[in-house]
Amino acid sequence: MKKVGIGLLGLGTVGQGVANIISQPKDRHPLVGELELVSVAVRNLKKKRDVSIPDSILTTNPTEIINNPNIQIVVEVMGGIEPARSLIIQAIRAGKSVVTANKAVIARHGEEISNEAKAAGVYVLIEAAVGGGIPIIEPLKQSLGGNQITKVSGIINGTTNYILSRMDKEGVNYAEVLKDAQILGYAESDPAADVEGSDAADKIAILSGLAFGGAINRANIPTTGINLLEDIDVNYARKLGYGIKLLAISEKGETQPTSEDSQPLSVWVEPTLVPEDNPLAGVNGVNNAILVEGNPIGQVMFFGPGAGSGPTASAVVADILNIAGIQSMSEDKIFNLDPLLSAKGWRSCH
Ligand code: NDP
Ligand code: HSE
Repeated sequence: MKKVGIGLLGLGTVGQGVANIISQPKDRHPLVGELELVSVAVRNLKKKRDVSIPDSILTTNPTEIINNPNIQIVVEVMGGIEPARSLIIQAIRAGKSVVTANKAVIARHGEEISNEAKAAGVYVLIEAAVGGGIPIIEPLKQSLGGNQITKVSGIINGTTNYILSRMDKEGVNYAEVLKDAQILGYAESDPAADVEGSDAADKIAILSGLAFGGAINRANIPTTGINLLEDIDVNYARKLGYGIKLLAISEKGETQPTSEDSQPLSVWVEPTLVPEDNPLAGVNGVNNAILVEGNPIGQVMFFGPGAGSGPTASAVVADILNIAGIQSMSEDKIFNLDPLLSAKGWRSCH
């Protein structure tokens, strides 16, 4: 089998994790050995990095990757909206499949990207965009497909859970522990996205689209972060028998549909008092936990590391392998973003 050429847009926390897996295929899935890291785009060629790849494959020009005929899969792990969105679309139009961890782009432009991918007959996979290393996108698209989903909820931002856990358990000050989360590579390049709740809102928008079969208007999601919480709030909550968790919730609402094709859906993000005996209260550190409720399955919980280099790279490489595997077997294109396309007029309310 000819090696599958991989182009990386970004070599930061996630990109380095991906490069490390691809460059060390021993004892992994056999297909990892069939991947070849052909080219990697960065901003600063001189930056010291925790990865051993030849300098000769680094470039500061992402377009080189899009136009490289030896690259079949473009992995976008640079973050931000632009130029990430444009590069993803250019890659698709150049006939490349795309793997991205970029929830900010997918929450706002998922439908456009999905339409482009459909038109070009390529794949766009986004497992790493929600829940870090936890498989949640694929289960919602495939394994839970026989259910009528009624609610998706949980802790879907690792940085804020890490901050809240350490404030609660160790009494560490908010600003100090946020700095640690940045050093550990959990936080977004602008950590305001984490602490103000925007990252969790992006992720719940994506999960809502997959669970309920429609495009969610990201701008309509009421969002409150943990940035206004003080140490005293965490201390009082503990004294009262609660933990504070930043929860993201998406559930079918009680209100009547406004039209035949418009169904009520409530979606929101806010810090919530969780009783100490609730399973979510025991989700600490960078871990995430996502509870999916549906009929006939009842409740199913997904738990694991929600951010960080290794866990996120694990999800990115899973997507790469899915595409490489499908391409090598010429199977039906069952892994694309179809559910995001089937807009049924779900609206977000609270
Ligand atoms: P980093 O900031 O650590 O890395 C970004 C990388 O992209 C850097 O290597 C940077 O280059 C490169 N880059 C940025 N802009 C450009 C550009 N215009 N041209 C070329 N290269 C560019 O981010 P992360 O790895 O933490 O995150 C990447 C994506 O993954 C984001 O969308 C994030 O939301 C998502 N994600 C992150 C997780 C995490 O735990 N960190 C978990 C799940 C998803 P240089 O190094 O030279 O500055
Ligand atoms: N900043 C994000 C978080 C990265 O802390 O959850 C994972 O998406």
